[in-house]
Amino acid sequence: MPITFNENQMSFKLAANNSCYMMKVAPGGYLAHVYFGKNVPDDDLTYLLRLDENPFTPEVNNRDLACYMDTLPFEYPCFGLGDYREHAFSIMDKNGASTCDLRYTSHRIYDGKPKLEGLPATFANSDSEAQTVEILMTDKPANLEVTLIYTAFADLDVITRSVTVKNIGSDKVYLTRVYSACVELDSEKYDMITLNGSWARERAPERCRLHHGKQLIDSMRGESSHQNNPFTAICANNADEDSGEVYGFNFVYSGNFVSEAEVTQHKKTRYLMGINSCDFKWLLEPNEVFTAPEVVMVYSDSGLGKMSRTFHDLYRNNLIRGEYKDKRRPILINNWEATYFNFTDEKLLQIAQEASKLGIEMLVMDDGWFGHRDSDNSSLGDWFVYEKKIAGGLKALVDKVNSLGMKFGIWFEPEMISPDSELYKQHPDWAIQVKGRDLTLCREQYVLDFSRKDLRDHIYAKMRAILDSANIEYIKWDMNRQLTEVASNALPVERQRELWHRYVLGVYDLMERLTTDYPHILLENCSGGGARFDPGMLYYSPQIWCSDDTDAIERLKIQYGTSMCYPCSAMGAHVSDCPNHTVGRSTPFTTRGHVAMVGTFGYELDVTKISQQDRDAIPAQIAEFNKYNALVRTGDHYRIGNIFEDNLWDAWMFVSKDKSEALFEFVQVLCRPNERSRRIKLKGLDPDAYYYEEQTPDVTLSGQALMQCGVNIGGLWGDHQSKILHFIKAEN
Ligand code: DGJ
Repeated sequence: MPITFNENQMSFKLAANNSCYMMKVAPGGYLAHVYFGKNVPDDDLTYLLRLDENPFTPEVNNRDLACYMDTLPFEYPCFGLGDYREHAFSIMDKNGASTCDLRYTSHRIYDGKPKLEGLPATFANSDSEAQTVEILMTDKPANLEVTLIYTAFADLDVITRSVTVKNIGSDKVYLTRVYSACVELDSEKYDMITLNGSWARERAPERCRLHHGKQLIDSMRGESSHQNNPFTAICANNADEDSGEVYGFNFVYSGNFVSEAEVTQHKKTRYLMGINSCDFKWLLEPNEVFTAPEVVMVYSDSGLGKMSRTFHDLYRNNLIRGEYKDKRRPILINNWEATYFNFTDEKLLQIAQEASKLGIEMLVMDDGWFGHRDSDNSSLGDWFVYEKKIAGGLKALVDKVNSLGMKFGIWFEPEMISPDSELYKQHPDWAIQVKGRDLTLCREQYVLDFSRKDLRDHIYAKMRAILDSANIEYIKWDMNRQLTEVASNALPVERQRELWHRYVLGVYDLMERLTTDYPHILLENCSGGGARFDPGMLYYSPQIWCSDDTDAIERLKIQYGTSMCYPCSAMGAHVSDCPNHTVGRSTPFTTRGHVAMVGTFGYELDVTKISQQDRDAIPAQIAEFNKYNALVRTGDHYRIGNIFEDNLWDAWMFVSKDKSEALFEFVQVLCRPNERSRRIKLKGLDPDAYYYEEQTPDVTLSGQALMQCGVNIGGLWGDHQSKILHFIKAEN
């Protein structure tokens, strides 16, 4: 049983594969954190709490209650009781007071994993895959019931957490902070790894040593953001890719968040994650329930690589849904970098005709097909076909593309409204805005108030009319600006500060409706590149556009950082034209293919205009993608190079789960004169098995030799060259 309760000690043990998480109901009814780490045979480690160490024991010395509150490792610390470390929960009660005091009331343990109302979350495929404990905490004076929900996965070192809050009294109460997780670690000797960046350079890992005080990343942009991803690893100072203790945290949410670590006076670390409480105030009427989104916690005793592989397995099996969950995705060609806004149906058909001959399977019509949109300054919200561009109508275009043997996909940006649009003329009040203030334009557009159901119904009806008018098999859902002047014309004054969260819930509602009504459509999320690459979005779309930077060398960095917690099967990656539109760099067509092959794979170029040599290379490139896609999608991913530490080269591997084959990819970022070949140690193979490389079937080497001694990689001349090796297990 993954979850057990020791009645004598009033302690919980959540065993998740080879890790465990322990808690205890401490004196006074406070829920204390006991241990999180590698599993041990014991079911109770209460001694770790130091309850017998003066001045911890309130019963013995009541003068020390404040000290007790400020040092007990709390599972879910509240504001106002003398715990001066960062808190997870705070309220404003009917008297305007902010103090709250949660005490253990009861618990229940059950098989499986519950859904979170209106929110994305990981799931168990069967009741035997996971077990859940719900711990009910009560604040009697405020009449609040807070349920801490923990799920332990049986075969993965994963524990998930979320929280619900119910008002069981007859007075209103405001929630001013409801974080989803707090974890107490008994040392300060940790580093904090976060994924930071900007447009076109998302998710670059940054590693900083924890120090006294608070260190955090966050978003207040209304989306998870280009700038900070809702992921954090807290790892031992000496942890590296393959060794050392690592705790990974990822927020299954797509809006404002906080990820914070605090090193306290006694050199302990408290880590917290949740919805950003800045500008958050949620009115809870009697009987109402608030649900905080899920945090995924991964433990690894073998470095960052193992942490990443655990996240990848969890997300591939227990988060991503739909028809494409376990399927190879169609190889698409997207016209954005090929034409930008300057296209017609004829131009799209020329691209499709050429692409179909080369083995490309789907044409995606990007931004610019609707309203009267010729640039980014109009028509968002007007989801009807721009007849000047698509003269023959959408159905005729799609039918022609289908007759070439290709699927058809389309771009939408449902959450937005252009001031120059029919929709804005009819409903200027639908834009998020503060009455009496100017609206800030960003990319010439405003954000729709997605907290409104009437508005969502309208947008969805327009989308449906398009989707039902032709055989559309893919949607790219884009979101190209952040939120400003956040207030709603539809919410009462006392609920205005709920808009940030209600907006995200509205987006989730529409995505749920869309994926339920059109299960055969492949949904790809996107946000000005990769500003919403988060597990919340993965619940609705099995793939997310990684970045607007399609340069193969920049992508090495972006895909490296993204792989910290997101599987390669989810990374939208395309071969684009050179010089690259973002950085002006030229890279070999082969390298562009090898790098895009690590993700979903597709093309984003005008295939009628590229060189004959590149065009001729496409069929073989597609064959190579097809050969390795199952391995990339389902295998274990190993990072070998780290381009942030050594910008001369990068390498990685995919190893099949049964370790019978492995794909090794190498990129020589810069060529240097007079160098010997580079010796690289492989990873993830079966040490006892023998392998041969496909090109040299007569040479077999043990997995042990390949991993301990390595292989020599050389023979590459020029910058940005790449090479792949395919290792196959030899028959005994
Ligand atoms: C941002 C996306 O990341 C691009 O791929 C493209 O779809 C543009 N938006 C279109 O406006």
